[in-house]
Amino acid sequence: MKTKLPAPERFDAMIIGAGAAGMMCALIAAQGGRSVLLLDQARQLAEKIRISGGGRCNFTHLHASPQNYLSHNPDFCRSALARYTPQHFIALLERHGLHYHEKTAGQLFCDEGSEAIIALLKAECDAAGVRWCMPCTVTRITRDEMFRVVTTRGEYHAAALVIASGGLSIPKIGATPFGYQVANQFEVPVTPLKPGLVPLTFAPQEWERYAALAGVSLEAVVSCGRQRFRGDLLFTHRGLSGPAILQISSYWEQGHPLSIDLLPDTDLSGLFVAQRGSRMLLGNFLAQYLPKRLAEIVATQWLENKPLDQLAGKALRALADRLKDWRITPSGTLGYSKAEVTCGGVDTRALSSKTMACNDVPGLYFIGEVVDVTGQLGGYNFQWAWASGHAAGIAIRGK
Ligand code: FDA
Repeated sequence: MKTKLPAPERFDAMIIGAGAAGMMCALIAAQGGRSVLLLDQARQLAEKIRISGGGRCNFTHLHASPQNYLSHNPDFCRSALARYTPQHFIALLERHGLHYHEKTAGQLFCDEGSEAIIALLKAECDAAGVRWCMPCTVTRITRDEMFRVVTTRGEYHAAALVIASGGLSIPKIGATPFGYQVANQFEVPVTPLKPGLVPLTFAPQEWERYAALAGVSLEAVVSCGRQRFRGDLLFTHRGLSGPAILQISSYWEQGHPLSIDLLPDTDLSGLFVAQRGSRMLLGNFLAQYLPKRLAEIVATQWLENKPLDQLAGKALRALADRLKDWRITPSGTLGYSKAEVTCGGVDTRALSSKTMACNDVPGLYFIGEVVDVTGQLGGYNFQWAWASGHAAGIAIRGK
């Protein structure tokens, strides 16, 4: 005898992915009286928020604006960012009695830590009556007059389906290509994907000479094309990392060289002129301005570690120029296992910038990192997750 399956439950909106964007969308839609089901495959809620900002969650950037985002359609994020600003999230935090501090200019971190942000979002969802379904895996999605979603926990029907399943970075904590697959299924275009905010690597034979520098860090200006970032740069066994490198990595394309100013505030040429006739060893002289290990490598490998008065003025000028404009071409990146974000995603030209809904598939929404909007380092990615989740949540309320 066949057992009768329970009739599918019906919701106004079903959201797949209970991360930053998904929870924000769920709570906004549910606060407006909509019935919302929030589904996630993970056992632990919002792992990416948990590990973010070294456990303190850099939850926004005070000066977030469209210039801080990469996209094939740079104006797309404008509307959502304008309607849900950093101040809105700060107000939410304050309503929950949480505190924050500004670390680097504009970057806000939660004093109580990432767990407190997760708890806040969960509490808001619960208070608004959001139904949770996790861990749960989606096995099939079909659409007629509504979306029919078959899962390992049964079938659910919804008028609106929101994809908030994030990007490909850090598969070990649950990142999957699910969102891009749904886009393909509904013929929504996806722009090329690549790891962003990721350490850069160099060919082993080229890097051998710098491998002894692993662990050395200094402030530098890193440029690629027209983009430039000032910040800490860290030498690693396989290449370069640190905030300035992570920032430029999102703009870097295979084969393009980087230009690195290792002495952004120092006029080394002028200092060499002032030191004419000095018997100080080049390495010791450079160590006044650069970390000692780097000074030694530069002195021995880029010139000769001799007293300054034994080195030609022209050679010293060339060395000074090279330290201001060190040209080096990465061979690759450490990939999605180390990337903070995925650059590229669901093509924004197929979405409404006001609602995040697909132009050609009524009721289907994409929000957060799965969309081709990628923030720079510094809280911009969460601000996009909040803002895009809010935009879709408001649109679903209005249905
Ligand atoms: P998010 O990844 O948060 O959530 C997606 C959800 O979908 C997950 O819960 C996942 O389990 C679920 N999911 C995936 N596939 C699924 C499937 N097939 N079925 C069901 N569910 C599925 N940003 C920032 O602004 N400040 C910061 O401090 C940091 N720090 C940081 C550190 C590290 C180590 C990383 C890797 C990333 C950051 N980020 C960051 C980036 C930030 O975490 C990221 O941009 C947002 O979490 C994106 O939010 P989303 O909600 O789009 O995806």
